[in-house]
Amino acid sequence: MQPQFIIIHQQVAPHVAHIQLNRPKELNALNLELMAELRDALKLLDADDHVRAIVISGNEKAFAAGADIKQMAGKTAIDMYNIDQFSTWDTIKKTKKPLIAAVSGFALGGGCELVMLCDMIVASETARFGQPEIKIGVMPGAGGTQRLTRAVGKALAMEMVLTGRFITAEEALHAGLINRVVPVELFLNEAIRLASAVAALSPLAVKMAKESVLKAFDSTLEEGLQFERKNFYLLFASEDQKEGMQAFVDKRTPVFKGK
Ligand code: CAA
Repeated sequence: MQPQFIIIHQQVAPHVAHIQLNRPKELNALNLELMAELRDALKLLDADDHVRAIVISGNEKAFAAGADIKQMAGKTAIDMYNIDQFSTWDTIKKTKKPLIAAVSGFALGGGCELVMLCDMIVASETARFGQPEIKIGVMPGAGGTQRLTRAVGKALAMEMVLTGRFITAEEALHAGLINRVVPVELFLNEAIRLASAVAALSPLAVKMAKESVLKAFDSTLEEGLQFERKNFYLLFASEDQKEGMQAFVDKRTPVFKGK
């Protein structure tokens, strides 16, 4: 079935797919249906051998203004428990291929949390990041208190989570939340360019490198080092390792096949 709230571009550059969040009138508010479509699209693209990197964007005005407040407003705690909307996010977190967020305009609440689930973040000069849930009587629920704190440190995370203040793209760059800031007309192209740079490399090595970096967030240093070392050794079972190293010796560009 055609998704209703997202647009999937299978190939915007060689081996690069693009998912656009598409509820523009609601500033891409993340209702349950959109999140289910996003989860299903990511599962499909993650399993597609032609795809090596995935860009997620909104539009110029909004990446996403958060979870859909209107859909949540009347819910009871038991409804929330039964719906368990954030379990969808756990599936997104399991995407093995690199996710690059292209952010312009608002990335708020769940929008900011979705951005932080991505592996690299390109922002336009107009991007605004925030966790304003505190202003509607709740708090971040999809990783905001944890991933934001790890990304920007306690002082700024506390300020954003406790006051709901939005930060600019420049401030987000300075704080280490995002990778780069570009003029608004370039934000999507720059994200695709970054995705293309990754997609030109060995997809197996990229997946294992992503997995290893993420391991740093929920392991001790020793566990993380052991995990990294095993992935490094494991890559010597791949044809891409043979190709990459032989190409270096031959002084030519390697051709990676993901095997
Ligand atoms: N949920 C549902 N609808 C939303 C929405 C949201 N998160 N954000 C914006 N919209 C809707 C507005 O209701 C409005 O719809 P109508 O035209 O039907 O009234 C439309 O999008 C445009 O929004 P505004 O008129 O408010 O646009 P603005 O430019 O004046 O303000 C804004 C933009 C500052 C982003 C403002 O819309 C806003 O504050 N939005 C809510 C932000 C927020 O609180 N997000 C956190 C949600 S909770 C959450 O995300 C929990 C979690 O951890 C996962």
